Amino acid sequence: MALPYLFTSLLLLVPLYRAANQSPLPPGSLPVVPTLPLLQALQTRAPGSSGWRVGPSSGQPLRYMLDLYRRAADREGRPRRGRSLGTNTIRLVQASSHGDQPWAGRWYMQTLTYSLEGHPEAEHLLRATVVYLPSLPLARGRLLCALESVAAGKTPGVLLSPATHPRHSWAEVDVTPYLVLGNSSTGSLALRHICVRAGRAGGRDAPVPPSRPFLLLYLNDTQAGLAPPATEPHRHRRDTGTLAHDLSNYLQEQGGEKSDCSLRPFPVSFAQLGWDHWIIAPRRYNPRYCKGTCPHLLRYDYHSPNHAVVQSFVHQLVDANVPRPCCVPYRYSPISVLMIERNGGILYKEYENMIAESCTCR
Ligand SMILES: *[C@@H]1O[C@H](CO)[C@@H](O)[C@H](O)[C@H]1NC(C)=O
Ligand SMILES: *[C@@H]1O[C@H](CO)[C@@H](O)[C@H](O)[C@H]1NC(C)=O
Repeated sequence: MALPYLFTSLLLLVPLYRAANQSPLPPGSLPVVPTLPLLQALQTRAPGSSGWRVGPSSGQPLRYMLDLYRRAADREGRPRRGRSLGTNTIRLVQASSHGDQPWAGRWYMQTLTYSLEGHPEAEHLLRATVVYLPSLPLARGRLLCALESVAAGKTPGVLLSPATHPRHSWAEVDVTPYLVLGNSSTGSLALRHICVRAGRAGGRDAPVPPSRPFLLLYLNDTQAGLAPPATEPHRHRRDTGTLAHDLSNYLQEQGGEKSDCSLRPFPVSFAQLGWDHWIIAPRRYNPRYCKGTCPHLLRYDYHSPNHAVVQSFVHQLVDANVPRPCCVPYRYSPISVLMIERNGGILYKEYENMIAESCTCR
């Protein structure tokens, strides 16, 4: 895992200067590469092998999640105003397959099982729903589908009725009461998917299987605003050696520009990191940064604390050894990321404080 990380780190500088239309650094003067918390957080979820790709079964579920993503976030991944999904993490889980023959005449019946495994401790389950297509057109007639809970013991299965019909004729059913939860973050769910072909009988339609209902877990990740846990101490030891400087130090060292403290672009493309096969949206990450001189008279819109005003005066009038206030981010916004997981699941996650929105001097 050390190799891809190093690769990531080295590539970081290239896209940023090109995309920002700034003059490239002279060769040989590359400083210590900054390490971005979002990239670190995502790194822990990277599938590892670059040959890993989206499976063919993810077509419909992926479309559903992209639609959900676009309603919640803009092209840069920033949340749209008033469009909260009610939580910061949504995981799509695909059903595991069964080899049986589900068609019998015009009836289709298949038992689907979903397993909840390996979710991080910090992700707390709020609710679970299953999304399916209640009605889909065939060459002749339609296929009408429903979901039934699978009987446990002597209790009969219950027909589940959809609570909402979100979009594109999908229906969403709350299945939270039917989850069988095991230890900590494990659990499972079993459902029967029942469909009937309506319309003229005797058609020569080859019985195409209806697309599989998928499970959505609405989770509250209590650590989405924090640095990722140190899962691989070996790799982290290496990081602290080579990636010691943070972004603001690095940028201040570049210096030279005499303009006032303000927000600047810093785009990093996931394609250039080789991550675009598993990060679906956004296409790039622009954390932005604050750079420039803090003026002697701090403008009101910098929201500087009184202490910064005092320090600025001291620097100017009393002792030039006391540094000027620094130009640093004032407000941040979260970023929403849609990504594919190793097991074919799809994950929507919001990470707090990942994009600088304004600067201050302090
Ligand atoms: C998620 O967890 C945090 C911390 O425990 C809590 O403050 C917040 O209200 C929770 N959010 C939801 C949607 O339950
Ligand atoms: C649950 O945890 C207990 C003790 O930690 C363990 O003995 C048991 O095997 C676990 N059960 C499952 C289903 O993992």
